[in-house]
Amino acid sequence: MDELYTFLRDNYIEDDNGEFRFDYSKEIIKWAIQKPGFINDWCLGVRSAKNQKILAFIAGAPSKITIYAKTTIKAAIMSFLCVHKKLRSKKLTPVLIKEMRRRIQGAGYQHAVYQGGDLVPTPFTKALYFHRSLNIKKLVDIGFLQLPKNMPLARYVKQYKPPNLGQCDLIGNPRLMEKKDIQGVYDLFKKDQKKFKVHFKLSQEELAHLLMPIKGNLWTIVFVDNDKNQITDFVTFYRTASTILKSVSQNFESHKGQHNHTDLQIATVLLHSCNTNNLGEVLKYVCHYSKNEIQDRPFDVLNIIATRDLEVVAREVKLGQGDGVLNQYLFNYEF
Ligand SMILES: CC(C)(COP(=O)(O)OP(=O)(O)OC[C@H]1O[C@@H](n2cnc3c(N)ncnc32)[C@H](O)[C@@H]1OP(=O)(O)O)[C@@H](O)C(=O)NCCC(=O)NCCS
Repeated sequence: MDELYTFLRDNYIEDDNGEFRFDYSKEIIKWAIQKPGFINDWCLGVRSAKNQKILAFIAGAPSKITIYAKTTIKAAIMSFLCVHKKLRSKKLTPVLIKEMRRRIQGAGYQHAVYQGGDLVPTPFTKALYFHRSLNIKKLVDIGFLQLPKNMPLARYVKQYKPPNLGQCDLIGNPRLMEKKDIQGVYDLFKKDQKKFKVHFKLSQEELAHLLMPIKGNLWTIVFVDNDKNQITDFVTFYRTASTILKSVSQNFESHKGQHNHTDLQIATVLLHSCNTNNLGEVLKYVCHYSKNEIQDRPFDVLNIIATRDLEVVAREVKLGQGDGVLNQYLFNYEF
């Protein structure tokens, strides 16, 4: 895990300007790869014959996907495809994918699901990202955000100050998810999944793996109706840090300058289910929580994938659309 962590930290996804590179923690890498039903053979690394260092990697995990409520297929979820920077453009990727396909098909799987910013043939859908800035000064310093024209920094900071608890209009009591909540959360999840034409079919064990908090890395907040002793809503987010690769931000003419920041702390929303609470209020609470309640490496920005219900609350949560597109692929399936 130490070697894989270092390999990904130094070689994984960067933005187009080469200013930021994802730096997933070991805990998050383990969480993403070692799901229930983990198949060791689907963790494929290529090492140097000379010094044994990792040169390329791809991981797969077994899953089930339900399509149009009527078909459920077995599919391997592909993740962490990465080729060492010094070995790019040598057509190592098709070799990795071919070997993974052999292993996956050998286990009786005919399909694979994967996602990525790169456009390769042929996505079945795509997702857009929205961001909520939490630490404006740092985001402007490092060139993640542009200071709007005629906007003094102090006013911009004030405008995006994360809400305090009193500004979140919540019903019920929010608290971190515990083991005893798994059944209640699973019931909400199953009900919600029916809204989507294509969705993962998860067992209770798989959902528990995805959502149970991991200290410093993943949080699921449940909202409890204490009178009925019932969970009414939940939201999950996890840490996706990035290394800042340049100490002089070059992104915007208006703000080029030296800074001392080395990392960007991103909270990415994974799942949410809002039934009693308003999604906007829940996301405001996440902004409050991720900025004020997390003392170790507080978050600078909140990321969330756009869904239809998000459009309605985008303005009140102060979400802005990012430039990233996440293409979704389903190998060997015709819709
Ligand atoms: C994505 C990455 C592995 C591609 O490596 P590369 O050295 O640029 O490409 P290679 O020369 O090995 O292979 C090129 C082929 O792989 C395909 N390819 C590139 N990225 C792909 C992807 N994400 N999924 C599937 N195929 C991909 C190309 O379409 C091309 O196909 P062709 O030979 O039919 O034209 C590499 O750029 C990388 O590690 N990037 C950082 C991590 C990353 O972005 N991972 C993808 C996350 S989805």
